[in-house]
Amino acid sequence: MGLIPNDVIHQVIERSDIVEIIGNYTALKKAGRNFKALCPFHHEKTPSFVVNPDKQIFHCFGCGVGGNAVGFLMRQEHLEFPEAVRFLANKAGIAVPQDASDAPNPSRQLREEIVKVNTLAALFFHDVLLTHRQADAGLARDYLKGRGVDLETVKKFQLGFAPNEWDALLKHLRSKGISEELMQKAGLIIAREGKNGHYDRFRNRIIFPIFDIQNRPLAFGARTMEESDGAKYINSPETVLYTKGQHMFGLQLTKLAAGKLDQMIVVEGYMDMIMPYTHGIENIAASLGTALTSEQVRLIRRYTSNVVMLFDTDAAGQSAIVRSLDLLIDEGMNVRVATLAQDEDPDSFIRQQGLEAFRARIKDAQSILDFKFNWLKGQYGLATVEGKSKISQELLLTIGRFKNEVAKYELTRQLARLLSVPESVLFKQAPASVNRQVPGKSPEDRAKGSASSVNTEELLLALFLKDAAWVKAAGEAVSPEDFSDGQMRQVVQGIWEVASQQREWSINDLLMLLNNEPAQSLVTRLISMEEGKLTDAARVFQDCIGKIQKERQKKIRGQLLQAIRQAEAEGDGQKLEELREQFNQSLKTS
Ligand code: CTP
Ligand code: MN
Repeated sequence: MGLIPNDVIHQVIERSDIVEIIGNYTALKKAGRNFKALCPFHHEKTPSFVVNPDKQIFHCFGCGVGGNAVGFLMRQEHLEFPEAVRFLANKAGIAVPQDASDAPNPSRQLREEIVKVNTLAALFFHDVLLTHRQADAGLARDYLKGRGVDLETVKKFQLGFAPNEWDALLKHLRSKGISEELMQKAGLIIAREGKNGHYDRFRNRIIFPIFDIQNRPLAFGARTMEESDGAKYINSPETVLYTKGQHMFGLQLTKLAAGKLDQMIVVEGYMDMIMPYTHGIENIAASLGTALTSEQVRLIRRYTSNVVMLFDTDAAGQSAIVRSLDLLIDEGMNVRVATLAQDEDPDSFIRQQGLEAFRARIKDAQSILDFKFNWLKGQYGLATVEGKSKISQELLLTIGRFKNEVAKYELTRQLARLLSVPESVLFKQAPASVNRQVPGKSPEDRAKGSASSVNTEELLLALFLKDAAWVKAAGEAVSPEDFSDGQMRQVVQGIWEVASQQREWSINDLLMLLNNEPAQSLVTRLISMEEGKLTDAARVFQDCIGKIQKERQKKIRGQLLQAIRQAEAEGDGQKLEELREQFNQSLKTS
């Protein structure tokens, strides 16, 4: 992003018609001012996918996604943002200036050159593995055969072998006219210490090229064939092309199946991805030995929001899962955790037990709550008071991350069962995010209360989105901080920002600014909301503003009371006087 000038993006969207674009992918039927269709992003029998020609947006009430034409294409065609803009520009006959995104951008040029060098290197390693007659290449073939990797797999993954020499690759690339400077920037060779010249980074190792989803080789992993020979794996360093933790190994082969099956199995290692895949598991990709990063989660989310984590049973693997869970919840993914026996990994498991046993493990994967509960039990133990309270504390924090109030409520009840404590204890303890309501009410009341306060905020936000005049009308009376939900705060902040610019703003300006799917989907959902709820908009507006200001006053009074207590404790008479005066004032104004 950022490469195509904003005004060009504007022009492209202005001149595109979302109805026509989406009409290419699903049959649209007129329904009032909008169009309805079966959602192209999830399986459904009755249409819940709405296209709004006035605002040029779409929203699916079934799976919750929404956005503008660019967002639709990114999802449907699995494109990056600039690619989607170009796609539309092409259709609309708008020239995207060459110099804006192509030639004069030096880092883009360098990236393309590194792709070229990596492609040559991958071909070289692959060719050595397949055809070289030298003894070391023979050992590499034997090694792979011994691990159950057949020729077809070697070809599919373009596996290779780096010869047992100091400069085999270097010489090969030089013969193709590649400069050593470029080889070094690609991370393929290393400068000799204190001397001139370079040597190959990967020597006498099996090569696993890492591709991006567009099948470009970004980097390499290299495995030793003898466990004693230094690090088991040596990987490419970070380059301008490759940042660790931003890609998933194997995803280029499995992304479409993951979308179709609506599930992604995430494993740790190269072989953990390759072996199940060759045995018939089509929806699997590897994080490459770390906890998942948010970039990786977003990559997966392009295809599915259901993830099954299948990591090694050792402490490192399990703690990598734990570290991934919160992130996955934050990103709105549904996660389960599959487990293997001690000393098993997905590679060894599928070779020993076969495809059906593997599928059974995936099917039996535990819920987040069960998994994390068991893990914490192992850490702290359930036998002591401290252990039990520590476990409940940590799990309440995890539960608090869920965005759906009903899910939070259900999970808290399940947790009570796991800990064998009365539910009310946990509801009292829950952090603000689980339990935003006034204490002393039953959980049911609490759920209702929170629903209505969220409703107020949603209604107001819907008004803002429907007509910018309401944004002006709200003026100083409301600010983003008045919204209790993080996503909403972000949207309101965005509205404030686009509204502060001089010219009139459109929903598309806001969607572009937000640049994150959950927030965009919130916007499109509220816009697509049934008109019925917003009839008599003026009254809805007054009510909402009133409620929000009341909440704000309550918060301020709460803070004042706390300050008063502190001043009392400190015996600060003058301060106490001032605070009491402020408190009385606040009572008068509300
Ligand atoms: N890894 C790494 N560097 C290391 C060790 C591990 O980059 N020195 C990464 C690799 O991506 C590896 C993953 O972490 O695939 C998991 O590590 P591990 O479980 O130790 O290896 P396996 O994948 O089981 O490798 P193999 O089956 O080949 O022994
Ligand atoms: Mn292994």
